[in-house]
Amino acid sequence: MSQAPTLAFIGAGNMAQAIIKGLLQQGYDAKQIIATGRTASKLAVLAADTGIGTSMDNQAACQQADIIILAVKPQMMQTTISQLASAIEPQRHLIISLAAGILANTITGWIGSDCATVRCMPNTPALVGMGASGLYANGQVSDRQKAMAEQIMQAVGISIWLPEETLIDAVTAVSGSGPAYYFLMMEAMIAGAEKLGLDQQQAKALVLQTALGAATMAQHSDQSPAQLRVAVTSPKGTTEQALRSFAESDYQATIANAMGAAYQRSQELAKLFT
Ligand SMILES: NC(=O)c1ccc[n+]([C@@H]2O[C@H](COP(=O)([O-])OP(=O)(O)OC[C@H]3O[C@@H](n4cnc5c(N)ncnc54)[C@H](OP(=O)(O)O)[C@@H]3O)[C@@H](O)[C@H]2O)c1
Repeated sequence: MSQAPTLAFIGAGNMAQAIIKGLLQQGYDAKQIIATGRTASKLAVLAADTGIGTSMDNQAACQQADIIILAVKPQMMQTTISQLASAIEPQRHLIISLAAGILANTITGWIGSDCATVRCMPNTPALVGMGASGLYANGQVSDRQKAMAEQIMQAVGISIWLPEETLIDAVTAVSGSGPAYYFLMMEAMIAGAEKLGLDQQQAKALVLQTALGAATMAQHSDQSPAQLRVAVTSPKGTTEQALRSFAESDYQATIANAMGAAYQRSQELAKLFT
C-alpha cells in the first residue's frame, strides 16, 4: 500500500492481532500501526513481536491515527468509546468497528458525531488469514475510505460489501457462525470414521483433508457446488447411498433452519445495544 494511513487498533486481542499480522505480512509499515490495551505486559509482547507502536492511552492513539479500528468486546464498547470520543475528528477519522451486534448508528451516537463508520463482521478463520467478512459503510464513508477499509480486512481473507446494515445479521449466520457448522460436520465424520474402524488420527487426517480438498475444488471450479456434487455421485454408487440417507433426514432443511436460528439470535443481540 502506498502512503499508508496510520491505523489505531483500540483493543489488541485475537482479532486485532490477526489483522495486524496480516497487514505486516502484506508489507504494511509497522510504524503506521499503533495498538492499545489495558495490560502493559501483553502490549510489550505484541510490540516486541511485531514492531508496531503500543499504548495504554486510547485518546493519544486516536490522535495519531487516520483510521480507528474498534476491537474490544461488544460489552466493553460503550465505555471504551466514551474514553476516546473527544479525540475523534469527524472530518478526518474513519471508524471501523469489529464488534458483533452494535449498529453503526449506536457507535456514532456514543461518539457524539456523525462520523464515517464501517461495521465489519469478521470470522475466526481470519486468525489464519482465511477470514470471510461482511462490511457495511454508513453514509459518511467516502469511496476512498471504503477502499482503505477493504484493504485492511483483505489482509486476513476476503470481504464483501453489504448495501444494507441488516445484512450483517445474514453474514453472521453464514460466515460468522459458519466455521462451527463445518467443525460439527468434521466432528460427526471423525466419529463416523472411527465407528467404521479407522483410528482417531487416521480419521481426523482424512476428514480434514477431505474438507480442505472439497473447499479448494469448489473455489477453483467454474461449476457450482451442486454440479460438483452431481459429478462425484455415480448412479447406484456409494456416494448416492450416503446422499439418499442425508435426504431422508432432510439435511438441507436442517442447515437452513440452523442458519435461520443464528440470524434471529443476531437480530436479538443487536437490540441489546440499541
Ligand atoms: N474473535 C473472533 O472470531 C471475532 C469474530 C467476529 C467479531 N469479533 C469482534 O472483534 C472484537 C474483538 O474480539 P476479540 O476476540 O479480538 O477479543 P479479545 O481477544 O478479548 O480482545 C479484546 C481486547 O480489548 C482490550 N481492551 C478491553 N478494554 C479496553 C479498553 N478500554 N481500551 C483498550 N483496550 C481494551 C483487551 O485488553 P486486555 O487484554 O489488556 O484487557 C483485549 O486485548 C469483538 O468486538 C468481537 O465481537 C471477533
